[in-house]
Amino acid sequence: MKTKNDIKTKRKKPSVGVDSTLKASTATTHLARGQEITVTIEKINAYGVGEAYFEGIRIRVPATAEQEVVTVEIEEKFSGGFWAKVKSIKKPHPERVPAPCPYFNECGGCDFQFLSYPEQLRYKNNEIRNLAKYLGVQDVCIKDVLPSPDIYGYRNRLSLQSDGNKIGFYAKKSHELVAIKNCLLASDALQIKIAEQIKSGAPMGRVDVRENDSSGFIQVNTGQNTQLQKWMIEQASFKKRDHVLELYCGAGNFTFHIADKVQSVVAVEGDSQSVETARKVQKKLDKKNIQFIVSDVLETLHDFATQMKLFDVIVCDPPRSGLKSSVGAILRLKPKKIIYISCDRQTFCEDVKKLMSAGYELKVLQGVDMFPQTRHIEVASVLELKNKRAI
Ligand SMILES: C[S@@+](CC[C@H](N)C(=O)[O-])C[C@H]1O[C@@H](n2cnc3c(N)ncnc32)[C@H](O)[C@@H]1O
Repeated sequence: MKTKNDIKTKRKKPSVGVDSTLKASTATTHLARGQEITVTIEKINAYGVGEAYFEGIRIRVPATAEQEVVTVEIEEKFSGGFWAKVKSIKKPHPERVPAPCPYFNECGGCDFQFLSYPEQLRYKNNEIRNLAKYLGVQDVCIKDVLPSPDIYGYRNRLSLQSDGNKIGFYAKKSHELVAIKNCLLASDALQIKIAEQIKSGAPMGRVDVRENDSSGFIQVNTGQNTQLQKWMIEQASFKKRDHVLELYCGAGNFTFHIADKVQSVVAVEGDSQSVETARKVQKKLDKKNIQFIVSDVLETLHDFATQMKLFDVIVCDPPRSGLKSSVGAILRLKPKKIIYISCDRQTFCEDVKKLMSAGYELKVLQGVDMFPQTRHIEVASVLELKNKRAI
């Protein structure tokens, strides 16, 4: 008999994306909110959530891993199935560990505190291989994901939320606020700032907390950022005669390292305060081969194409939204090599597909674990122009 809690769903064909391995089915059934079922988790999906099938219906269960047998309680429906929460674990994953954070079960900030770090890396390595499969590349050199030097206490900044009374993070899958006293991902210096912020309160909205008072973009994980800078210099194999264009340069995080290796760097950034910081460092280091430009990347690319300015290498590290129409503008400049760093696999894929169909070959694909305990992966890559006439 149906109850008013019954929820109907029809499994749709999943959209093509980095999670293209999802099964498709047309099974129709209903499950009731609050109903308990026992399922075997098949895999952790691209969004960091355990996925199982019950009578052909996809069930998403946060904080579960593949091959775990779990009894779950059905929660709300999503377009392709149901969300559920763990009631009990019948067969745990061999790499399951106790999550150290008291907020882990409710807080939406972390995905993987319940898995050992090697297992988190295994998932991320697999995701990078899925990405290569999705891009259809075979000859690419896929390097093992670079582990983070610190797996807790690594963040030098984070964004909290305030409802005017409480300060915390949004809960998993909702905009309900989970009040916190501290965050285990924050560095010791940041923990102090968080405690001060909670004590002083904040008006409703986002509350950005940083270790220091800098403004503009900084990479969140200082130790891992050092490894990423090294990776870039090693993998780019810059030549002393190279002229390099760096897009989205922030406060010069990569710029000064690149400048040591090449003839010239033109570095473009939209945020004037970041460039002001970069120019101060430039003056202090007396680096004469860097030109910082405060501008929109697309506009600058158009200007350079009109002036027929040539660059040997273009380095880009765009925000989550990716390169968008700047891809076409980059193609007009025809650099021999592109170093593309991204914090978003979806937009990275979209952009790299366009670059590949215009004659670039993906040579190196490297995951960088900038965000341990979460599903996020920084992707670093090297692309080379196969044949100039192809463009
Ligand atoms: C992911 S951050 C990278 C910054 C730098 N590479 C680093 O490692 O610190 C992206 C940067 O792009 C800048 N940005 C975003 N959209 C832009 C645009 N359309 N034109 C110029 N800069 C932009 C942001 O201000 C930010 O500094």
